Amino acid sequence: MKKFSITVAGGGSTFTPGIILMLLENLAKFPIRQIKFYDNDKERQQQVADACAVIIKEKASEINFLATTEPEEAFTDIDFVMAHIRVGKYAMREKDEKIPLKYGVVGQETCGPGGIAYGMRSIGGVLEILDYMEKYSPNAWMLNYSNPAAIVAEATRKLRPNSKILNICDMPIGIENLMAKILGLPSRKDMTIRYYGLNHFGWWTDIRDKDGNDLMPKLKEHVKEYGYDLEKNEGQHADESWQSTFRKAKDVYAVDPDTLPNTYLKYYFYPQDEVAHTDPNYTRANQVMDGREKFIFSQCNRIADLGTTEGSELEIDEHASYIVDLARAIAYDTQERMLLIVENNGAIPNFDPTAMVEVPCIVGVNGPEPLVQGTIPRFQKGLMEQQVAVEKLVVEAWEEQSYQKLWQAITLSRTVPNARVAKQILDDLIEVNKEYWPELH
Ligand code: NAD
Ligand code: G6P
Ligand code: MN
Repeated sequence: MKKFSITVAGGGSTFTPGIILMLLENLAKFPIRQIKFYDNDKERQQQVADACAVIIKEKASEINFLATTEPEEAFTDIDFVMAHIRVGKYAMREKDEKIPLKYGVVGQETCGPGGIAYGMRSIGGVLEILDYMEKYSPNAWMLNYSNPAAIVAEATRKLRPNSKILNICDMPIGIENLMAKILGLPSRKDMTIRYYGLNHFGWWTDIRDKDGNDLMPKLKEHVKEYGYDLEKNEGQHADESWQSTFRKAKDVYAVDPDTLPNTYLKYYFYPQDEVAHTDPNYTRANQVMDGREKFIFSQCNRIADLGTTEGSELEIDEHASYIVDLARAIAYDTQERMLLIVENNGAIPNFDPTAMVEVPCIVGVNGPEPLVQGTIPRFQKGLMEQQVAVEKLVVEAWEEQSYQKLWQAITLSRTVPNARVAKQILDDLIEVNKEYWPELH
C-alpha cells in the first residue's frame, strides 16, 4: 500500500498537534511515510515541532519527520499539503476585531471588515504556497482551511485557476455533530444532507437518515427553542463564546424557518446584538490567545522538555478527521460526499456561475464534483449576491491594488452601516496592515 508524504503549512498553528494526533490515530486508513512542517515563523513552529517529534517517535517512529522554513525542503516530494496559515497571526486578528468595534461595527475573524482585512493578508500567503507546490510537487493537492476561506477560494479560483486546491470548512461539520447529538444518532455520517451557501454563509435544506426519513422536523423543534445548544459541548467549540453562538442560532433560524442556518449568519442578521455583547477591549482573539494558544504552547513545551507525552493534556482533534476523509477521497477515489467550497458552475442554477459556493460534492481522484442544489429562494439569493460581491471586490482590490474597490467591499458588507464608517475603518486597517497588504492607490 502506498504511504503518503504530507506537509502541514502553518506548522506553528494551534491546531497542528491535534491534527498530528488525529493523523497518527488514522494510519490504518491513511498510511503516512513522511510529515513535514512548514511555517514562516521558525521559533513558533519549532515549539510545536519539538513536541510533535516526541509524539511521532512514540506512536509511529517509522515516519520521517522534519520542520523547516525552507520552501524547497518543505514542498519537494509530497502528496498533500494541509494548509492552515494565519498571516499576521493572532496579533493581527486582534486588530481585525478591535478596529471595526471602535466604530460600533462587528469585529470578527472572517465576517465583515475584519474578515476583509484578513482576506487581504491571506491571499498572498496562500498563493505563495500554491506556487511552491507547483514548482516542487506539481501533482500534490492542497487541502486548505486557512481563513477567510471564502475570499481565499475566490482568489485561487481567479488567480491560480489550475491549482489543485480544495477549500473546506469545519463549521458545518461541527454543527452536524451537534445535530447528530440532538437526534440521538451515533455520528453525523448517519445523516445525508443538502446545503447551499457561501462559506460561513449557508443553509441546510434537507437532512435525512439512511432510510430516507426526514430529520428536519425534529431538528427544527430543537433549534426553535435552543438553537444548536446542548447541555454539554465538547472539543473545539466548547467554550462559553461558542455556546452563546449556538444559542443565537435560534434567532437566526426564526428569520427563515424553512431551512437550518449556519451559525455565522448571526453576524449579518443581528450585527448590533453582537456589538452589544462584545467587550471592545477583550475580543475573541484575546480569549483564544489567553486560552487555546497558551494551553497548546505550554503543553508542547512540556512534552519537549520531558521528552515524553506521559501526563500530556493534548487531545486528538477527532472532529478534524474530515481532513483524512478528504485526503482519502482523492488518494483512493472513495467518491465520498463532502461539503466543499467550489465554483458554482450551475450547482445553484439561479446564482453567479463563477461564485465560490459551499455545496455537497462527490470527491474522487480528480477532485470534487458539485451536486446540484436547485434554485434558491429570493431571501437567500439576495443575501448571497451581496456577500459574494463583497468577496469578489476584495480579490479585485488585492489584484488591482484598488483603494476604491476595497472601500466598496466594506461598504457593501451587511455588517457596515454606511460608506463614511466604511472609509474610517478602511483607513485604520490600512495603517496597521502595511506589512501585509499590497499598497493601495
Ligand atoms: P495560528 O496563528 O496558531 O497558526 C497559524 C500559523 O501560520 C502560525 O504559526 C504562523 O506563523 C503561520 N503563518 C502565517 N503566515 C504564513 C505564511 N505566509 N506561510 C507559512 N506560515 C505562515 O492560527 P490558528 O488559530 O491555529 O489557525 C490557523 C488557520 O486555520 C487560520 O487561518 C484559521 O482561521 C484557520 N481555521 C480554519 C478552520 C476552517 O473551518 N476552515 C477551522 C479552524 C481554523
Ligand atoms: C470555526 C470556523 C473556522 C474558524 C474557527 C474560529 O471552526 O469554521 O473557520 O477559524 O471557528 O474559532 P476560534 O475558536 O479561533 O474563534
Ligand atoms: Mn470555517
